[in-house]
Amino acid sequence: MSAVVRPRIVVTGRIPDAGMELLHEAGEVVAWDSLDVPSVDAVHTMVKGAHAVLTLLTTKVDDAFLDAVGPQLQVVANVAVGFNNIDVAACARRGVVCTNTPGVLTEATADIAMALVLMSTRRLGEGERVIRSGTPWQWGMFYMLGSGIQGSQLGIVGMGDIGRALARRAKAFGVTIAYSNRTPVSPQVEAELGAQFMSMDELLETSDVVSLNCPYSPATHHLMAADEFRKMKSSAFLVNTARGPIVDEAALVDALQSGQIAGAGLDVFEHEPAVHPGLLECETAVLVPHLGSATVETRSAMARLAAHNAVNVLTGVQPPTPIPVPAS
Ligand code: GLV
Repeated sequence: MSAVVRPRIVVTGRIPDAGMELLHEAGEVVAWDSLDVPSVDAVHTMVKGAHAVLTLLTTKVDDAFLDAVGPQLQVVANVAVGFNNIDVAACARRGVVCTNTPGVLTEATADIAMALVLMSTRRLGEGERVIRSGTPWQWGMFYMLGSGIQGSQLGIVGMGDIGRALARRAKAFGVTIAYSNRTPVSPQVEAELGAQFMSMDELLETSDVVSLNCPYSPATHHLMAADEFRKMKSSAFLVNTARGPIVDEAALVDALQSGQIAGAGLDVFEHEPAVHPGLLECETAVLVPHLGSATVETRSAMARLAAHNAVNVLTGVQPPTPIPVPAS
């Protein structure tokens, strides 16, 4: 009788135990055991012979990666909702299923988006810098005035789960919601959120805060560039918790420096982890290091879901969240 061969499962970064436990039950697990990001060479060496690979956002899955793994690979389970690190079409050509972790990070990411709306409009980053730098300050009637958001319009670009979760939060702050999406959401959802569908131009021209909540793809690359900033009100703010390259960062710096827009709150950057030096000099930019899903609970849920996805594919169960293959 031949021994049952347990699948080889590789994890390209450290993930919470909640995910690792499931993987250990399902196969022989090899995991990158450091918080540092492995080099491309280290990844390619580690993944050789894997039947399943759990990848982090910092792992690039392309033809070179797939060649390094070998033809036995069945699944790439990304521990993220975004999957711009994965060439999904290249995986599909080789019959490799790709999965992501939608749903479990919706609320945490919407929290960060709302926090950035408040931080940028109320100048909280700037205020913190004043205190920490020891700069003299005094309460004053006209000191560090921001823009109140009650009665303002938030324009949400991309009304998926995270866009809707942000809309619910903003509504509670007395904000009216406009949104732009490939297709309008259902009338029930519009009514529940008090959300009005708009063309991108109308949304840019009328919103007091524009929040990016769409996926990154070739179609959304530099969706916000010089022309779009010109359309925004000079009193308006941009918030990005989606993906950095949706924004032309150099054009954003110009728009902030020239006062074409009033400020920005950014969790993601075009050339992450690098940040455009112009942004670092802008008092009106709030900059945080990709913290959208960074809570203990959310990261555990992401790890668990990604592990489930991988195990489901290995055991022949339809995964709950296959990433659709883009039309060629
Ligand atoms: C985080 O940015 C994610 O896509 O999960």
